Amino acid sequence: MSEVVKLERHDDIAIVTVDSPPVNALSAAVRGGIQQGIRAAIADPEVKGIVLTCAGRTFIAGADITEFGKPPKPPALNDVLAEIENSPKPVVAAIHGTALGGGLEVALACHFRVAVKDARLGLPEVKLGLLPGAGGTQRLPRAVGPELAVKMIVGGDPIGAAEALKNGLIEEIVEGPAAGGEAFARKVLAEKRPLRRLRDDDSKLAAAKADRSIFTNAVAAMTKKTRGLEAPFAAADAVGYAIDLPFDEGLRKEREGFLKLVASDQSKAQRYAFFAEREAAKIAGVPEGTKSRNVARVAVIGAGTMGGGIAMSFANAGIPVTLIETGEEQLKRGMGVMQKNWEATAARGGIPADAPAKRMALIDGKVGLENVKDADLVIEAVFETMAIKKEVFGKLDQYAKPGAVLASNTSYLNIDQIASETTRPQDVLGMHFFSPANVMKLCEVVRAAKTAPDALVTAVNISRKIAKVPAVVGVCDGFVGNRMLAQRGKQAEKLLFEGALPQQVDAVVTKFGMPMGPFAMGDLAGLDIGWRSRKDRGIKSEIADALCEAGRFGQKTGKGYYKYEGGSRAPLPDPEVEKLIDETLARLGRKRRAVGDEEILERMMYPMINEGAKILDEGIAARPSDIDVIWLYGYGWPIYRGGPMYWADSVGLKQIADRLAYYAKETNDPSLEPAPLLKRLAAEGKTFASLASEASKAA
Ligand code: 3HC
Ligand code: NAI
Repeated sequence: MSEVVKLERHDDIAIVTVDSPPVNALSAAVRGGIQQGIRAAIADPEVKGIVLTCAGRTFIAGADITEFGKPPKPPALNDVLAEIENSPKPVVAAIHGTALGGGLEVALACHFRVAVKDARLGLPEVKLGLLPGAGGTQRLPRAVGPELAVKMIVGGDPIGAAEALKNGLIEEIVEGPAAGGEAFARKVLAEKRPLRRLRDDDSKLAAAKADRSIFTNAVAAMTKKTRGLEAPFAAADAVGYAIDLPFDEGLRKEREGFLKLVASDQSKAQRYAFFAEREAAKIAGVPEGTKSRNVARVAVIGAGTMGGGIAMSFANAGIPVTLIETGEEQLKRGMGVMQKNWEATAARGGIPADAPAKRMALIDGKVGLENVKDADLVIEAVFETMAIKKEVFGKLDQYAKPGAVLASNTSYLNIDQIASETTRPQDVLGMHFFSPANVMKLCEVVRAAKTAPDALVTAVNISRKIAKVPAVVGVCDGFVGNRMLAQRGKQAEKLLFEGALPQQVDAVVTKFGMPMGPFAMGDLAGLDIGWRSRKDRGIKSEIADALCEAGRFGQKTGKGYYKYEGGSRAPLPDPEVEKLIDETLARLGRKRRAVGDEEILERMMYPMINEGAKILDEGIAARPSDIDVIWLYGYGWPIYRGGPMYWADSVGLKQIADRLAYYAKETNDPSLEPAPLLKRLAAEGKTFASLASEASKAA
């Protein structure tokens, strides 16, 4: 039939099979193949029913995202879907894996849908800054009603086969997709079931047509947390067209909305982020075909804030963990925190009621490092002190089985030094998770000088297996994320000395789209940690020191750069802090000046980008997009701005270099001098993105 779509006939049932690895995305060839397959099946007088199914690991996972932004190639998906829906012979979609986006839209144009029990169905377009553009916003509400449709389309998360069955999205759960689809098609023929064309079935819209609040309440619930994003609102409007307009008009309006979003800066950034995340899993400089080591059991050392969260992430993915502490009491406390966390999630309905017990059963708490002996991967999360880390790794060398990957979760310390405590530095690397580790998706995988390629591949693969986003980085103080953050922190502090207030700085940063500003973040982490470390190193930071001397350690004391009332985590500006800043500046003989928001934004962002340029130059990160992934998944960088390096390209590197040079002079701060790489790209009129194409040309 075609390279990517096959047509077979089993007696009077035609089976149209899409076979376009890896995910059967709807490229022009696949769209054309489906169209031809359906046409041929309709034309064949022997055929009474048609099954549309997929080979490989999944049903169609959506439109081919790489085609967006390029001139459209025929046939248009909507035209293919109209032919399927208008087929005089029943068409059954037989689903396995994930039916996502355009994939689910294909299934919705079929007259019937069946799926295997672990299939997932969804319209995730909103996560790419889009809305479903091939009838999804019009057919899904007709299949499942507007409330669930809003949840799926505006939220973008898929549902499982059981929920799909309960809500009328599929007709049956079947054993195997192709055979199940075929059996179902025969049943349709035997029972002479009328063809169900969703376009003509408004029955599930009636309630919302009579009472629009059913729809508006669902939209309000789903858009509560969509700060700064355009797509969720446009997607909600499109579901509204299904309720308010005839099908064809709704479809036309949906298309209009889709085309507008495809061309938007937000969607471009979100699509960039999708590919950046996948690119980050490809490790530069590792020989092709390097195999991961097998990881059947993990040991986590330290059941504190991080160790507990890391252990939970593995148990969430069904991987058994030995959790090791120094004493029974510490172990009990750590296990208790995990149990409470899971129970709270279960109480909110986030996981099934029996999940906490099942997950706790995967965690084997032990005292003593000798208990690492069965682990294939050991992750150390003890106190952040080199001497302690070295001691622990010396012992791991003694007890861990040969070939086990030995990882440290250190935030700043030198992995090469840690590795040198062992006789097997080839097995040692960093796995830097972010707090709360059971929630945050980033894992900076730190490649040390002697780390073996297969150890690195193991760390990257296992991170993906536990639903984290790995990015490989090199050894330096703070790796990529914290090293860049330190530059922002430095400027934030300086801004206070020049006259800005914490709430002004934070407001600029949150308006930009970050979840928190640097001062609210400091209050959350605890100001006493930095204070103690400054004292140890004999360093001063007058305003921060003055806060700590006044007992203001942040959220934990109800006061820091802000005040927190009645146990709330909401930061409230505090006149006492302004007074304290004034007094400190007076003592230092400094005058406050009015600092504009634009200056704040530039001084918060540009120094980080400058550091990013140095990181690239030093080879600490292999690609600008890896840095973006780190900021998206470790620090809550707004996805619609793509990441700091992507955003920098959109601002223009010359502008950034010029402003940095200006601030370096104006604030007498040589650390703000533009980095050589930034200067070079700015002078050549190039972008960070151009480095990726330079690299691929060189390869
Ligand atoms: N288009 C193009 N390439 C795609 C793709 C798509 N829709 N989905 C996945 N890929 C590529 C990935 O880039 C990756 O390529 P690589 O191997 O070269 O890096 C490869 O397929 C495998 O993808 P993953 O590594 O993500 O594989 P997983 O097995 O972990 O996940 C998946 C599979 C759940 C299908 C995941 O890839 C995914 O979520 N894909 C996107 C789904 C999506 O957003 N669909 C909606 C698209 S928009 C749309 O349909 C518009 C329509 O309404 C008109
Ligand atoms: P924590 O103080 O909450 O926990 C450390 C735990 O390790 C304690 O429970 C302690 O009893 C245990 N421990 C100490 N020595 C041990 C040993 N020899 N054997 C077994 N257990 C031992 O510390 P936290 O915050 O979890 O940090 C751990 C590591 O993670 C540090 O290296 C830190 O820099 C890093 N990290 C911390 C982040 C955070 O936000 N807290 C973020 C990312 C990394």
